[in-house]
Amino acid sequence: MLEKLSLDGKSIVITGGGTGLGREMALAIARAGGDLVIASRRAGPIEETAALAREAGRSAIAVPTDVTDTSQVDALFRRAIDELGKVDVLINNAGIVRGARATPIWEISDADWRLGIETNLSSAFYCSRAIARHMTERGRGRIINVSSGFGLRGGRDNYMYTTAKGGILQLTRTLAMSLGRHGVTSACIVPGFIPTEATATLRETQPQGRFIPIGRVGLPEEIGPVAVFLASDASDYMNGETFIADGGGLAGGYAPTGYAPDVPLTI
Ligand SMILES: NC(=O)c1ccc[n+]([C@@H]2O[C@H](COP(=O)([O-])OP(=O)(O)OC[C@H]3O[C@@H](n4cnc5c(N)ncnc54)[C@H](OP(=O)(O)O)[C@@H]3O)[C@@H](O)[C@H]2O)c1
Repeated sequence: MLEKLSLDGKSIVITGGGTGLGREMALAIARAGGDLVIASRRAGPIEETAALAREAGRSAIAVPTDVTDTSQVDALFRRAIDELGKVDVLINNAGIVRGARATPIWEISDADWRLGIETNLSSAFYCSRAIARHMTERGRGRIINVSSGFGLRGGRDNYMYTTAKGGILQLTRTLAMSLGRHGVTSACIVPGFIPTEATATLRETQPQGRFIPIGRVGLPEEIGPVAVFLASDASDYMNGETFIADGGGLAGGYAPTGYAPDVPLTI
């Protein structure tokens, strides 16, 4: 049965694969046998992930790309097809997490709004559009998007991130409805609170683990196996679904909400 989880022979493009969750997903994919094209703006981190994937015996290249720039996105997929011959799986993981801070609505500029929506939502659309025809012509493919718990609930003074991540869930469903009949399926990962380099400040200032039913925040490497499963043939009949990995955080309505007081539970 474990053969179904093997990614041997699969070519996978992942955005934002140089750091945090993307890096762990890329490394898990390499260990499961997948070949990789890894994209983000900075060359250094993606070169490092690609080198680690090659050490695991896989083909892996880093392609510096700004996923908000459609000409760079189109060039990324041309390069991926040139290098690997095909793209089986796209993982839309890039996002702005670093510096995403609570801001009153009247202080958000047009430029802030556009950058937040472009990076956290439009980029997934641009990448999906760039590879959809290739996948439908081959009659198979998978698009995996990365949303957030903030895609399923509101956030206090958190406009771009929550709006974009909610849009990612809808993009996933619409891709599923539109491309499923061509053999191209879609899925969405919803990570819970998983401190990475980008969110280290939050980790230091907020005892988030107290609010999570299993009593701790997540580890970046805990998202790797979810990505392997969704990239593999083991999830062939899943399309348009949402996969939450958050220690139970959303199960009861995530706290803290940013509003005091926390009411002690007596039950
Ligand atoms: N960590 C969490 O608790 C958590 C929870 C829920 C959802 N998520 C989601 O998980 C994904 C990964 O987040 P992370 O926590 O691993 O943070 P991260 O380490 O900051 O990863 C984000 C990645 O996106 C890339 N990126 C940002 N803007 C880009 C652009 N314009 N073009 C290309 N790449 C770009 C960054 O690389 P460059 O700077 O080199 O471009 C970076 O590698 C994000 O979509 C985030 O919203 C994270």
